[in-house]
Amino acid sequence: MSKKILVLGALGQIGTDLVDALRLRFGAESVIASDIRRPAHAVEGVFLEIDAKDREALRAAVVQHGITEVYHLVAMLSATAEKYPIAGWDLNMISLFNVLELAKEGLLKKVFWPSSIAAFGPTSPKDPCGQTVVMDPATVYGISKLSGELWCSYYFEKFGVDVRSIRYPGLISWKAEPGGGTTDYAVDIFHKALAQNKYSCYIAAESSLPMMYMEDAIESTIGIMEAKAEDVRIRTSYNIAAFCVNPRILAEEIRKHRPDFEISYDVDFRDAIAQGWPASILDEEARAHWGHNPKFDLPKMVEEMLSRLAQ
Ligand code: SER
Repeated sequence: MSKKILVLGALGQIGTDLVDALRLRFGAESVIASDIRRPAHAVEGVFLEIDAKDREALRAAVVQHGITEVYHLVAMLSATAEKYPIAGWDLNMISLFNVLELAKEGLLKKVFWPSSIAAFGPTSPKDPCGQTVVMDPATVYGISKLSGELWCSYYFEKFGVDVRSIRYPGLISWKAEPGGGTTDYAVDIFHKALAQNKYSCYIAAESSLPMMYMEDAIESTIGIMEAKAEDVRIRTSYNIAAFCVNPRILAEEIRKHRPDFEISYDVDFRDAIAQGWPASILDEEARAHWGHNPKFDLPKMVEEMLSRLAQ
């Protein structure tokens, strides 16, 4: 059976880049994009409108299109889920169970599901935070991610479902903007730097978080999915890291290109969320087991973001 991929949440920040990368790698005809809403403007390739909470709609799409792999990118992120806890939990968990159940039935060969640095909590090691540590997430989103990790591992152990997962740091990209996350500031800051030469930041100057340029995140996402099953030895989720940064240092790096750029601070509840997450991440398991190997450090990411967004 040839590879046929379904990306759920394809219009989001990760999905937008991932669909392009998967189509480049495996051919446009092998990748179906889907989301709960139609795209605002015409998109290339097959697009399906699917509510990932609707298992029968998902099953129908998987059967009709002969889907072999699902990349499940549907989620309500940390800041929004604090405002709508039950809706956040329902979306994040029901959509995961739907995909895991279809895989358990034998309809899917492989599943990708993202966890996050949000799965850690205030008692987890802060700087740096290793792979196997105390995890006590204090947000709805984080609780859903840690629970999801355990369910992925359970479906792998009990039912042989080949589900693979990485804990994304904050992701920085230019193609699509994130929505509803705590780390969104690190994308927003570039848009405002180019439009207004100033940015009012809702995260405190010294609140450091692990971050990664999207190209590296996509490379590792496809990397873990293409790895041999026996090399994916951790079946909860893998730490992956690139660099860590706080708003003050990010602003300084932007100022190297735009000397007049100014940052000010109007801190809100999202800073408390950031404070509960690690400042930096250790990822030797991901590097050793299946070759996570990011290329973008902070200066290279900033240069790339500014030049891409200026085009
Ligand atoms: N970027 C996410 C958020 O901020 C964390 O995974 O919610």
